[in-house]
Amino acid sequence: MDKLHITGGARLNGEIRVSGAKNAALPILCASLLTADALAVGNVPALNDVDTTLRLLERLGVRARRAADDTVELRANQVASVEAPYDLVKTMRASILVLGPLLARFGEAHVSLPGGCAIGQRPVDQHIKGLAALGAEIRIEHGYVVARAKRLKGASVRTDMITVTGTENLMMAAVLADGRTVLQNAAREPEVVDLAELLIKMGAHIEGHGTDHIAIDGVERLHGATHRVVADRIEAGTFLCAVAATGGDIVLRDAAPATMGATLDKLREAGLAVDAGGDWIHATMNRRPSAVGFRTLEYPGFATDMQAQLMALNTIADGTSVIVETIFENRYMHVQELSRMGAQIDIDGHTAVVTGMPALSGARVMATDLRASASLVIAGLAARGETTVERIYHLDRGYERMEAKLHSLGARIERIKSKA
Ligand code: EPU
Repeated sequence: MDKLHITGGARLNGEIRVSGAKNAALPILCASLLTADALAVGNVPALNDVDTTLRLLERLGVRARRAADDTVELRANQVASVEAPYDLVKTMRASILVLGPLLARFGEAHVSLPGGCAIGQRPVDQHIKGLAALGAEIRIEHGYVVARAKRLKGASVRTDMITVTGTENLMMAAVLADGRTVLQNAAREPEVVDLAELLIKMGAHIEGHGTDHIAIDGVERLHGATHRVVADRIEAGTFLCAVAATGGDIVLRDAAPATMGATLDKLREAGLAVDAGGDWIHATMNRRPSAVGFRTLEYPGFATDMQAQLMALNTIADGTSVIVETIFENRYMHVQELSRMGAQIDIDGHTAVVTGMPALSGARVMATDLRASASLVIAGLAARGETTVERIYHLDRGYERMEAKLHSLGARIERIKSKA
């Protein structure tokens, strides 16, 4: 397994490009199942989760071709299977996103239940409840969700909680349903909006995306389209936390600052000077960060996917901060590793109290999930001495060439390839 070796203390300076958003690319690639026509998707990040999604789609019979740039062309005119097997789903929960499109277009889907996850239980009961409301007959058999429907029928669906992939799955199911579907308590994340915009280009009738009330008038069929994936607000936010921790002056190109309000507000509060235009962010840090408390919330609140990175910044900030994680029940796995670097963090249930220390000291640490890994990289960049982050396959799932981008900003970071 590859590792990252970091020598802390270098300021970050320069300019990098933000990649396309993982969490927008995954549902968008799955939307290719909704039509027999070709879909051309640009700004698709080179990530392990994208590769897994393409492998899954190919297993179903979708033809996918990655062009030399970051475009992927997909065509689902010869789908031969409606089964998403356990071996792929268990490695990536987002595989559940084929359930809605398969059922809507082919009237049948067999999708393995995802099983356990490091950051929380993450059930998919709301996906199932919503599809049942649209008229699907659903059973759980041998670890699989087995869903059937001649044609889904529009209905009003109110999910018990706000769910991002749940909203996406139901939206993809409803676009081909008979009649009007109203999704209440819908997720408002920019990635949901990006998917809706793609579906509209494919001929879907959708209104209200970006609000908690999405109305979808089903159509008989969708057609091909060309789309560019929205910028990754979490990747961009991760680099901003890094420069806030190390000090320096960086510019992020191809970013979407309009989707990053909560993160930018918190980083400004921490002392980062931020200037932003349509697709760029300029950030400067020349002092010790100030501690900033926050609670994670659904969009437009502060994203749970940024919690670990901002916590890493708080470990070296001036003051004490209180962090509350409200989305996932077990998303503090980075705390023990940060503590090994000298961080002082007390956890009580969903609340973490972080007492800022003057400095962290480098150590060997282990990544446990994607965003936890990013927080350890940030800590390593700011720490005194050497840090080795092990098990970075988690990082490779969701950050495109992270070490190369950081290296180009002046970080002393290198990947140590496993011999296996
Ligand atoms: N939930 C249920 N039942 C459901 C669905 C969700 O109880 O049927 C609960 C979850 O257990 C969780 C809460 O509702 O406590 C919210 O979960 P949500 O469904 O919104 O999460 P998700 O759709 O599985 C996406 C992102 C995650 C991100 C969350 C929250 C993708 C592919 N994944 O997951 O991204 O943390 O929304 O914003 O879009 C990451 O990129 O590191 C990542 C984990």
